[in-house]
Amino acid sequence: MSYLEVTWTDPATHAKGYLVIDRLVRGVSSGGLRMRAGCTLDEVRGLARGMTAKEALNYDPGARYVPLGGAKGGIDFDPYDPRAQDVLTDYLHAMSPYVERFWTLGEDLGLRQSAIDEAIAKIGLRSSIQAVYPLLDDEHEARRRLADAFQVTVDGVGLDELVGGYGVAQAALTGIEHLGLSNPTAFVQGFGSMGGATARYLARNGVRVVGLADVHGVVANPDGLDVETLLLSRDPHGGIDRTKLRDHDLQLPGDQWLDVEADVLVPAATSYAINADNAHRVRAKLVVEAANMPVTEDARLDAVVIPDVVANSATNSWWWWTLFGDIEATAESAFAKIATTTRRLTRLVLAEPSPRAAARRIAAEATEEIARRF
Ligand SMILES: NC(=O)c1ccc[n+]([C@@H]2O[C@H](COP(=O)([O-])OP(=O)(O)OC[C@H]3O[C@@H](n4cnc5c(N)ncnc54)[C@H](O)[C@@H]3O)[C@@H](O)[C@H]2O)c1
Repeated sequence: MSYLEVTWTDPATHAKGYLVIDRLVRGVSSGGLRMRAGCTLDEVRGLARGMTAKEALNYDPGARYVPLGGAKGGIDFDPYDPRAQDVLTDYLHAMSPYVERFWTLGEDLGLRQSAIDEAIAKIGLRSSIQAVYPLLDDEHEARRRLADAFQVTVDGVGLDELVGGYGVAQAALTGIEHLGLSNPTAFVQGFGSMGGATARYLARNGVRVVGLADVHGVVANPDGLDVETLLLSRDPHGGIDRTKLRDHDLQLPGDQWLDVEADVLVPAATSYAINADNAHRVRAKLVVEAANMPVTEDARLDAVVIPDVVANSATNSWWWWTLFGDIEATAESAFAKIATTTRRLTRLVLAEPSPRAAARRIAAEATEEIARRF
């Protein structure tokens, strides 16, 4: 059962918004805020539970960062609607008592951190993660370190938008080694923060990215797409600029995303993308969950699945490692820590018959240990 569930209705648009705090650790929880038309309380509840596991999986008794509890926010509204920023601001205003005390949030599906920061400033809060400040030894120094990290860019993309996908790529590369796939190919569904960075770091590590999907459709090329050009010309919501495609690149309708043949499939867009209805169309040998809950429990797959809580936790942990001082405000420090942690965890879960069950067990053990210590 969740610790707290809040439902909000926007007086102006009648959009619904939800906040679920699954659990508090040392009085604080962590979890992103998403905006998508059709978002439900049940979805947010599942995501909040996942955040508790994601936090706990990163438990390292020797580290300065102690995992927080899990939470999640969701707004049922189209992020492309011109009123989206106002809806976001009004939602955060309504949730401000929780943001002040219990809930630290960052960007998730449909929202950029800059949009959240703008809304937070407008309603007069200090930061979207201010609830954690009382846990810091030296708040000033910690906040400076995090602000410095947010200024870092790597080849034209902000570090904050790369760390998550960098972690997914590390999980995928570990899976590729585990299965012994040679000359691997990949398809990435979603080309925003997670999908974009995943595609970049797969391509940079010798994986041929043969297809990408965004909300508008699929682009594909069996010889590989020019990921870097497409990455640097995306719109702010992760929309692909089709004018940047090359002559032999194909454009397909969105519902053909499972028809592009690839060894590795990375769902990095919406929840429930692979389900009982379409699971039979998945031909990949490895599925790496960059999105949260992209594969439903009832989807029967022949592929090895690296679960979301293992593959996609790097954005969340990067914030805390940086803030608490476990890493420096540089890309080198961030990437090194993410690679070590994600690869170790991925190898651990792949060693068992069900990686998802293994992740659940490890998270439950860590949650118990954290509860005992704090
Ligand atoms: N951003 C993070 O730090 C983070 C961390 C962990 C997990 N996640 C999860 O990863 C997923 C993506 O998050 P993001 O932050 O990259 O989002 P984003 O808004 O930056 O990008 C979403 C991408 O998915 C595409 N998309 C949306 N609906 C689609 C559909 N029906 N079919 C195909 N493509 C579609 C969009 O066009 C865009 O390219 C979400 O499930 C989110 O919960 C995000």
